[in-house]
Amino acid sequence: METKKNKLTIAIDGHSSCGKSTVAKDLAKALGYTYIDSGAMYRSVTLLCMEHDLIDGEQVNLVALKPLMENLSIHFTFDVEKQQYITWMNNRKVEHKIRSIEVANNVSVVSKIDFVRSKLVAMQQEMGKQGGIVMDGRDIGTVVFTDAELKIFMTASPQVRAQRRFDELKAAGHQLTFEEVLENIEKRDFMDANREIAPLKKADDAVVLDNSSLSKEEQLAILIDLVEQRSN
Ligand code: DC
Repeated sequence: METKKNKLTIAIDGHSSCGKSTVAKDLAKALGYTYIDSGAMYRSVTLLCMEHDLIDGEQVNLVALKPLMENLSIHFTFDVEKQQYITWMNNRKVEHKIRSIEVANNVSVVSKIDFVRSKLVAMQQEMGKQGGIVMDGRDIGTVVFTDAELKIFMTASPQVRAQRRFDELKAAGHQLTFEEVLENIEKRDFMDANREIAPLKKADDAVVLDNSSLSKEEQLAILIDLVEQRSN
């Protein structure tokens, strides 16, 4: 798509499993932009903590985590054959593992740690400094790219989100029940919105998109329309 002003920065925030990444990927593809899944970065750090046995309930061993954060690298590649983005942590493919329910259950305690957030925010800002990026997450419009030309706040009902996530996880071969997924989503909603640092909230200048009853195509059309408006 041709725009008068090239390379916008597009921030898409919203609740867990509301289809942010699906529409963000579609939008990035349509515009020829880079897509970054910031949630995958928080999930990667959570996996790292689990692999080093640093999580005990709500407690994380911060002393042991600090040096690991200093040496952390995360990057993304695109598997053309599978049409799938792949997350790499410290040059290791972690895409499948970071989507597990175990990681999902621990990610909120890790993502509220201040030095984890500041490190990942700095990495995200570096990734997006050239513009031409669609990044999705919880604090992209409020913290990471406060001057993004387009900010979207996406949501959908918890039931709709749990069903979508359940279908996705099943298809990827994860074993779990719908109730487990719903419980995880409700818990994450609460923790994301109530944590001290960078809680999930709509940026004042974000456009709200409730996609409970919108198809992928309808969502993409709405976003492309908004991009066109912002590009003029
Ligand atoms: O988008 P997701 O569900 O894969 O994100 C996983 C978790 O990471 C989510 O529960 C909250 C956290 N997260 C965050 O705190 N800030 C972001 N920008 C993205 C995700």
